[in-house]
This record gives sequence, structure tokens and C-alpha cells, in this order.
Amino acid sequence: MPARVGNVGPAVFRLTPEEAAQAARAADLLLAECSDTAAAEFPVLAAVHAYGLPPRLRGFLLRMRAQEHDATFAVEGFPVDDAAIGPTPARWGQQPDPSTTLALEACLALSGSVLGDLFGWATQQDGALIHDIAPNPDDADSQVGSSSAELLWWHTEEAFHPLRCDYLGLLCLRNHDRVPTTVGSVGDVELDTSMREVLFEPRYRIRPDDSHLADRRTLSRPEGKKGRLLAAARQRIDRMDREPQRVALLSGDPDAPYLAVDPYYTDIPADDPDAVHAFDSLRAQLDKALVEVVLEPGSILFIDNFRAVHGRAPFHARYDGTDRWLKRVNITRDVRKSRAHRLSSDSWTVY
Ligand SMILES: [Fe+2]
Repeated sequence: MPARVGNVGPAVFRLTPEEAAQAARAADLLLAECSDTAAAEFPVLAAVHAYGLPPRLRGFLLRMRAQEHDATFAVEGFPVDDAAIGPTPARWGQQPDPSTTLALEACLALSGSVLGDLFGWATQQDGALIHDIAPNPDDADSQVGSSSAELLWWHTEEAFHPLRCDYLGLLCLRNHDRVPTTVGSVGDVELDTSMREVLFEPRYRIRPDDSHLADRRTLSRPEGKKGRLLAAARQRIDRMDREPQRVALLSGDPDAPYLAVDPYYTDIPADDPDAVHAFDSLRAQLDKALVEVVLEPGSILFIDNFRAVHGRAPFHARYDGTDRWLKRVNITRDVRKSRAHRLSSDSWTVY
């Protein structure tokens, strides 16, 4: 990862070898109690064993969470054995031997648990808690994480969804080609008062990204409440696609606003020139603020999804097991706010 210059790029925490060993012990303890990341108790146990992480790391993550100064921050130094993790899967859910990356996924879950509650979407990667991000030949030219040949335009994760994550954790397992991830912070955007006021008003429509839409759904409809929640979630997302509500792109403190924006999926209100102008200014400033970050194996990049946008440069995928491979997790500060969309209070799947 490049050295940080001023306020540009992620704040970086580097584990010492002793701290990496301590984190590995915490991961072992977690996996000894629960080695199934799909289990209901996995996030609870991750939160328990997060107390075993090095205090310096916990302090770093908790300060990032409290201060909200750095929109992206990275933890480096989790050891990755490129041969031992096995080949990059051809598509999500098709890792030949899921056990090869479990210890690293546990480190991602433990670190993420310091920031909040881990959760997954029923409508994405069949409800997995920890996602694979690897190039899929069917998606090469699309706007989803499994694309490659096409630039993945910068965006807020699930900008369209009121229950979007507070943080996204991206653990790099492999990046031989040094494919850059792009990040930009709303902290680097300067807007005059009138434009800011426009962006604080509900004047834009953001549609769901392709990863949630019908043609990616492979999970058959289950019985009972699960089936009802899933059907409702799919209908809701289809409705958000067909007739999205108008939303504001900025929220919170006008002096340090939160941001939710996804230009690729945003309908610009042509009959509202002030909204168009403010949107163009915001987009131009974020374009200017965008920096490239090359994730190294064993690094976790955390993205504050209320402060940062992220994307990825195009790259040439080989589909031979050596392509870029990340693990991704969604983190919310308060899983309770999605209670109406979950099966039970201790379920982490958001429908
Ligand atoms: Fe994304």
C-alpha cells in the first residue's frame, strides 16, 4: 500500500509480528468454538473473541470509528500463504476448499466486530456473511465486484438501501497484478452553501445495483417466515429499481456530512437544473479526490460507507486461479435498525 500523504488515502495500522501472532490466536479460539461463518452465533463469537485482538489494533479501530476523520483505514500484516489458500475461485460460493481461508476470514470478522455488528444480505451472494470478490467471466463488463475488464465506477455500497452498511471490510488474499482499488472521501469535497443545501434535499433517485437484482438470485424460496421475508425483500428491491424514491445524497452535520451516492445508478432529475448542477459538482470533486490503493495480501481495507466512495480500476482477468481475490464483510453500527427485515433478533441476515 502506498505511503499516506496528508489526508489522502487510508490511515494505515501495521501489525507487528507479535501482534499478528496474537490475532491468529484469537482467530483460532473463535474457530475452535465455531468454524461455520454461516452459523447464527458466528458474529456473536467474533465479537467475544475480538477482545483477544492486540489492544493497539482495537484502539486504532475504535479511534477510527469515533473520530470519523479517516474515511478509509487499513490494517496490514495478517500473514497469507499464497499456495496454502488455494486458487482464486471461478465465482462466489465456489471455493474448492473453504477451510483454506477460514483463519483469515476469522481475522476479518474479529477486526470488523470492533467496529460494529456483522451482517449479510439475503439478496446478495445467497445470504453469505463473508463474500468472495473474484472476477467472474460472465460479469467481466458489468458494474459488480466480480467484474474485471470494465472500470468499477466509484460508489457508496448499497447507496440505494436505507439499511446499507456503516463499514465495508475488504480483506485481500491475492493481488498479483496489483489491481488498484479506488477510494475518495467526502472530507475532501468542498461545496458552497447553496449546493450543499440542494444535496441535503431529497431530489435524487438511486436504483439498486445489479448484484441484488433478479438475474443473480439462485436461492430457491424457502418455507415459512424466511420465504415471506425473502419474497418481500425481492419485491422491495424490484420496486426500488422500477420506481425509486427521491433521496438526499448528503445527510448529518452540514459541516461534516455523510454521503450516499452512486452515479452509475442515479437518475439525474433533468427538470431540476440546481440538482443537476450540485450533482455534477459533487461528482467532479469526488473524481478529483479519488486515489488508488493497491491492496496487498494480508491487508484489510475498511471503508467508512458514510464518508467514502470506492471503486476499482479495470484489469485483465486470467480465470486461472491466480486472479485478484478479496473477502468482503458488511458491518453496521446497529443491527437492531434492520430488525423488521430479519428472521429473529439474533439472525444477521437482512432481507
Ligand atoms: Fe462496492
